[in-house]
Amino acid sequence: MARPIQIVPSVLPADFSKLGEEVAALEAAGVDLIQWDVMDGQFVPNLTFGPDVIKSARQHCTVPFEAHMMVYTPDVMAKDYIDAGCSRLIVHAEACTHLHRTLGNINELGGNAAVALNPATPASAIEHVLDLVDLVLVMTVNPGFGGQAYISTMEPKIAEVRKMLDESGRGDEIELEVDGGIGPNTIAGAAAAGANVLIAGSALYRDPEGLEHAVSDLRARAHAAIA
Ligand code: DX5
Repeated sequence: MARPIQIVPSVLPADFSKLGEEVAALEAAGVDLIQWDVMDGQFVPNLTFGPDVIKSARQHCTVPFEAHMMVYTPDVMAKDYIDAGCSRLIVHAEACTHLHRTLGNINELGGNAAVALNPATPASAIEHVLDLVDLVLVMTVNPGFGGQAYISTMEPKIAEVRKMLDESGRGDEIELEVDGGIGPNTIAGAAAAGANVLIAGSALYRDPEGLEHAVSDLRARAHAAIA
């Protein structure tokens, strides 16, 4: 059974000189939670938010934070990002030599463990860890930067993961998230394929009618796609 639609911003396009105000504005715009794209400059060719940056923003809003850990060493970093206020950590299957252990460690630290798949990684990579996660992220771009084009050939993979989740017996507990190129012209395809948590960065910040309109418009389009 599909989970409720959630519209979740990536903070990547925000004004980093005033992140407290930016997360407060996102909450006011009606987002369900906020995603921090954590990048180490190794797993992806970009370097972004340390735990202290996230900790400083935590006090400026009340919606949950999740960290999309585009890093090679999530085991080393997990506790600091949980302590900074991220309730969910999404690690990449491709970055984890011992993915089952990494996910278990995150849960033991009090976080909610989740796993991401890059576009070339098959859904089968996560079939033996579904008991450890509350979310699976199917990337619809190659990670590292915002503003990239949506990879529509990921839609069959989204549907395959949705089927896996439902057949696991935890389909009503595990979120299916997509990230990358989600906007007014692409969100319907992702939602119809089975995604219920939709990450948007550029599409939110480039809406001429503002964040609140962007969030409500994307939410309406996702609901229309699954009606
Ligand atoms: C890629 C990032 C982006 C970002 C959203 O590593 O994870 O996908 O969150 O980018 P947009 O919504 O601008 O494509």
